[in-house]
Amino acid sequence: MDDLIKQAADDLAAAGKVTALTGAGISIESGIPPFRGKGGLWERFDPMEIAHIDAFMRDPARVWNILVKEMKKIVDIAVPNDGHKGLAKLEEMGKLKTVITQNIDGLHQAAGNTDVIEFHGTFAWQRCMDCSRKYETRQVDISVIPPRCSCGGILRPDAVFFGEMIPPDALRRSRQIASDCDVMLVVGTSAVVQPAALMPVIAKESGAKVVEINPERTPLTDEISDYLIPGGAGDVMNRIVAELEQIS
Ligand code: OAD
Repeated sequence: MDDLIKQAADDLAAAGKVTALTGAGISIESGIPPFRGKGGLWERFDPMEIAHIDAFMRDPARVWNILVKEMKKIVDIAVPNDGHKGLAKLEEMGKLKTVITQNIDGLHQAAGNTDVIEFHGTFAWQRCMDCSRKYETRQVDISVIPPRCSCGGILRPDAVFFGEMIPPDALRRSRQIASDCDVMLVVGTSAVVQPAALMPVIAKESGAKVVEINPERTPLTDEISDYLIPGGAGDVMNRIVAELEQIS
């Protein structure tokens, strides 16, 4: 493990442009459950029944009651952990420019990263399905479900449900940044959801080093990643930043 930390710090020191692709694993240490694996949301719910846009359109109150309300309780109080802070530190050191995240919890911005592409939208805002007015999620009163806009329309998370398009700007910028980086850090994603999982493939094909940080192997591990640093995001990021500070 020490060798891999040293290798990552050397790769970051040598790189001009560094980007990161993150997933739910980086927010686990902030108390937000992942989707897959032990304790994951999809262990308890069928995503097609509860996180698909058709399910929301069919019965918004049900999806609010089962999924959105629970997420609101967790995300409203979550704060960045050492994994998010490590990526913010890399930006402060002039190394990392953009974070492409599949997460909707806003914790990269809270940690201090200034250029965050929210590939699956954001949970920080709710959007009226009729007039598109936005409301800050923390301010939304959930005593009546589903919550409604002042125009009477139903509010929905400003995030991407299954069956919906990736925000076109997020997709376009992510592809461009992936194809133009020297190192891509892939942190805490199972890399099974497309098209997000394609970003490391684009980076690799464009000549970048792909470095995974994850306690588990993923479909990228043998095929795309140059190496996997096995461990939790907080601990690994702390160690990489400490090593990088020593050599730069
Ligand atoms: P997943 O829940 O699929 O994967 C979480 C990953 O985090 C796994 O690979 C774990 O091994 C890893 N992990 C666990 N603990 C960790 C730790 N302490 N530090 C780092 N990694 C850790 O989450 P995503 O890959 O983000 O989409 O899922 C992708 C998409 O699937 C989500 O954005 C969401 C979901 O359905 C939509 O809702 C559209």
